[in-house]
Amino acid sequence: MAARRILPVLAASLCAFAEVSVYPYPRPSATPGAAYVGWQAYDPTTLDDPPLPNPMPPLDFQIQLDTSGNPAASQDQLGSFLGISIEMSLAEAVIGPNSSWLRPQFLNLMSTLKERGGPPVLRLGGNTQEKAELVDSIDGGGSLAKFAIGPTGFTNTPTLQFTVDIIKAVRAASDILGIKWFMGVPMNQTTPPRLEIVEQGESIMGEYLWGWQLGNEPDLYVSHNYRPANYTEEDYMAEYRTILDAVTADPLIQTKNNYGGPGVCCIWQLGDLINNQNYLGQFGSQLNSLIIEHYPLDNCDPSAHDPQQVLNSYMNHPFAVSFGQQYAAIAETSNAAGKPVILLETNTASCNGFRGLSDSFAASLWATDLALQLASVNFTHMMLHLGGQAAYYNPFVPPPHNATAPFMWTVGPTMYAILLVAEALGQTGHARVADLGANAGNQYTPGYVIYEDNQPARVVLLNYMSDTSGASDYTAHISTSASEVKVRYLIAPQVSMKTNITFAGQSFGGYFESDGLLRGDHTTETVNCSGGSCAIQVPAPGIALVFLTDSAYQPDDDMATYASTHITAMHNTAVVDPSALQTGNGMNGALRAQMKLASTSANKKNGAGRRVGEVAAGILLASGAFILGFRMLVV
Ligand SMILES: *[C@@H]1O[C@H](CO)[C@@H](O)[C@H](O)[C@H]1NC(C)=O
Ligand SMILES: *[C@@H]1O[C@H](CO)[C@@H](O)[C@H](O)[C@H]1NC(C)=O
Ligand SMILES: *[C@@H]1O[C@H](CO)[C@@H](O)[C@H](O)[C@H]1NC(C)=O
Ligand SMILES: *[C@@H]1O[C@H](CO)[C@@H](O)[C@H](O)[C@H]1NC(C)=O
Ligand SMILES: *[C@@H]1O[C@H](CO)[C@@H](O)[C@H](O)[C@H]1NC(C)=O
Ligand SMILES: *[C@@H]1O[C@H](CO)[C@@H](O)[C@H](O)[C@H]1NC(C)=O
Ligand SMILES: *[C@@H]1O[C@H](CO)[C@@H](O)[C@H](O)[C@H]1NC(C)=O
Repeated sequence: MAARRILPVLAASLCAFAEVSVYPYPRPSATPGAAYVGWQAYDPTTLDDPPLPNPMPPLDFQIQLDTSGNPAASQDQLGSFLGISIEMSLAEAVIGPNSSWLRPQFLNLMSTLKERGGPPVLRLGGNTQEKAELVDSIDGGGSLAKFAIGPTGFTNTPTLQFTVDIIKAVRAASDILGIKWFMGVPMNQTTPPRLEIVEQGESIMGEYLWGWQLGNEPDLYVSHNYRPANYTEEDYMAEYRTILDAVTADPLIQTKNNYGGPGVCCIWQLGDLINNQNYLGQFGSQLNSLIIEHYPLDNCDPSAHDPQQVLNSYMNHPFAVSFGQQYAAIAETSNAAGKPVILLETNTASCNGFRGLSDSFAASLWATDLALQLASVNFTHMMLHLGGQAAYYNPFVPPPHNATAPFMWTVGPTMYAILLVAEALGQTGHARVADLGANAGNQYTPGYVIYEDNQPARVVLLNYMSDTSGASDYTAHISTSASEVKVRYLIAPQVSMKTNITFAGQSFGGYFESDGLLRGDHTTETVNCSGGSCAIQVPAPGIALVFLTDSAYQPDDDMATYASTHITAMHNTAVVDPSALQTGNGMNGALRAQMKLASTSANKKNGAGRRVGEVAAGILLASGAFILGFRMLVV
């Protein structure tokens, strides 16, 4: 089967965006050598690649796959295993202000995931959920506002106000793409408990609510000034009981048993709560999941770690394995109690990540390995945090609130890991994952096998080494009776690179270049096999996703794209005048005004295997505001 093309676009119209854009921050490539000043999310500063291992691992080795039909592997996993944790204060910027103004970039990004791994499972919460207040209306209008009032602690977390329009926007995105959500419930006080989001959100979210996360990182309540210094695990247990009892007694809440916790991150030991406080036993009848929030390293004190050393220490398989092993016993206990184990918030490092690590190809490698590792030890979800402009680690991020134009987003390296993992686990819901211990367990060349129907279906091979000479590429000979296999690569020229990352030949582009769609030829390589084995090349650095059977080969390039009337406009921009919506691309304002969300979700391919052509277009309004990325079908 030849590689198929996907999503041709008119490059010229995209370039036109860039020419008229006005960046409120230095262009990333401005002056080589000059120190970057600006938001962390767009910092082009790179680290060095990690040194090559000494001794080098064997670069040519066999991989034997278990075809007994009874493999030692994980429980069934969903293609949505690796998801995104969206900080609650970013709901409006990322998802949209209300159900009729969804952000097309977000929909497009989620559509690329759905196409591969089925409907995404996401989380909306974080530090800002604790003081978030659901209000009837916000002074000055809109559906979300932040205020620097109340205790903030060292994270400077603002107090958040939002209206029910935000929840309706979340629901509208789910109506289109089937996204399911974990949503945050505040626990900043117990008397009275603040259950408004549940009371009003439950019926709005309906079937798309996966669960409520009651309280976020309670082991940091003291340092965030939410509780006095003498606050203990016992106090927390008592408060949790008080609130769950209030849920039970609340006539406005229908479902009483879809709560997740404890969401401890940093100071308390999860094992203490489970084993000594009997967390699962105490609350089991109302819990639907065990929530963990943990980052491999704490970067809240930036002087504590040298990012270069950290990068070097992350670039190997034992780093991912040890993260999973610290929870192995807990995961087993929790699964035995029927409570799925969810890593609801993580990323490369807490407090916004490390410059040069969290925003480079290193993060793609780290996230892919960790996700497959946690899948292999029976976690059910892992969510990469999206923290906004001040974070290095965003899977993607809309432009700053005061950006004038254009409204193109920035997609980070971890998004490529989310894509690859979605495709590796696929859409059956029965993918079972095992760590291959590849290459005699060598730490730089790990691999995973994904079983479908208990037979090997896909293999993921990682190469952590960074060597532009090609001398550290390796060849894995995979045992299979197939005569040929398909391979897609997630690659970048170097581990330390921040752009030039492609998956199956496609890219979301660099800083401020994305409307959420992949660009470029979709390339899939076919590898001939002989003598019961296929030789798969894995570049240094890179990840190969190998499809062993035709039925394992996804996606079929069938996806919906979004935009039209859900125009992206940041809250500082002028009201859009429909008469200004004139464009040379065959669609006028009146026509676009007629297009509703429902009809654009019909922007599916035409069913007969023909490719759907699309045009991208942008409009510069007289006011200087920009509307981008509406796409229309040109069959
Ligand atoms: C945007 O806001 C940031 C900080 O909030 C500020 O540093 C920057 O100068 C602002 N840019 C413009 C164009 O106002
Ligand atoms: C994961 O679940 C599967 C299926 O229940 C089980 O066979 C396997 O032993 C579990 N793995 C771990 C590490 O607990
Ligand atoms: C949705 O939000 C947009 C942008 O803030 C606003 O112009 C529009 O009036 C809102 N629609 C509704 C129904 O509130
Ligand atoms: C909890 O948060 C709400 C909303 O921000 C605030 O009104 C309330 O005072 C807070 N409670 C405590 C005990 O700080
Ligand atoms: C904990 O500290 C608070 C505030 O300092 C105080 O009111 C409370 O009595 C203390 N509780 C215990 C059990 O000592
Ligand atoms: C990265 O991509 C840019 C633009 O496509 C290209 O000019 C540049 O040569 C690439 N860099 C490397 C190291 O491949
Ligand atoms: C694979 O096999 C096909 C048919 O036997 C042949 O046409 C093709 O050239 C081979 N590809 C490679 C890379 O050897």
